[in-house]
Amino acid sequence: MARGRFILLEGCDRAGKSTQCAKLVAALQDKGHAVELCKFPDRTTTIGQMIHAYLTNAKELDDKAIHLLFSANRWEAMQQMKRKLRAGTHLIVDRYAYSGVAFSTAKGLDLTWCKNPDRGLVRPDLTFFLDLPTVEAEKRGGFGEERYENRELQEKVREVFLQLKSKEWVMIDARHSVPTMHHEILKVTEDKIREGERDAEFAEED
Ligand code: TYD
Ligand code: MG
Repeated sequence: MARGRFILLEGCDRAGKSTQCAKLVAALQDKGHAVELCKFPDRTTTIGQMIHAYLTNAKELDDKAIHLLFSANRWEAMQQMKRKLRAGTHLIVDRYAYSGVAFSTAKGLDLTWCKNPDRGLVRPDLTFFLDLPTVEAEKRGGFGEERYENRELQEKVREVFLQLKSKEWVMIDARHSVPTMHHEILKVTEDKIREGERDAEFAEED
């Protein structure tokens, strides 16, 4: 059986990641795939609750301490994610280590220092970056109450994301409509899934 694919959607706040993740999961399920959604931060765990308290300004934390908590929140999900991928379940992931590095570096932490705690995490097979200029993001109902939801920081975050971008990233123009983006994301994802299935078939023939 083919290993599940790890499909990541990254981007700044308001780019439409959560909407696209939900639509992608639903479309793949309709087509008979085993697929699950993962979201970071995962606020349901003990570490996630500390992150939530920080993001909602209920708690103050040192920049490095919160960075490590975001990373630990990914590490605590690792075993289960790996188990699911091995069982052939595709994972659609809403934010991951790139967000961790982009936000903390934008706050002024050193880029290499920020990357280190995430080293060794399972890697995505496919990364989409939903790119939206900050002025457009602001027009989408304004930023809310949470920490980081302000224009100045979001602009820096986008700059770091674009610095982290590699040639494997699939760039999605998040100014496009929800169905247009969905169509593109689904097509590229299905190609990636087929590629994984073909690789598994060849491996069996060996
Ligand atoms: P977000 O995806 O916006 O959660 P929700 O959809 O529940 O609002 O994530 C919350 C914030 O956390 C967001 O501003 C990005 C930030 N963040 C980090 O700073 N580091 C990280 O490692 C992750 C995953 C997110
Ligand atoms: Mg948010």
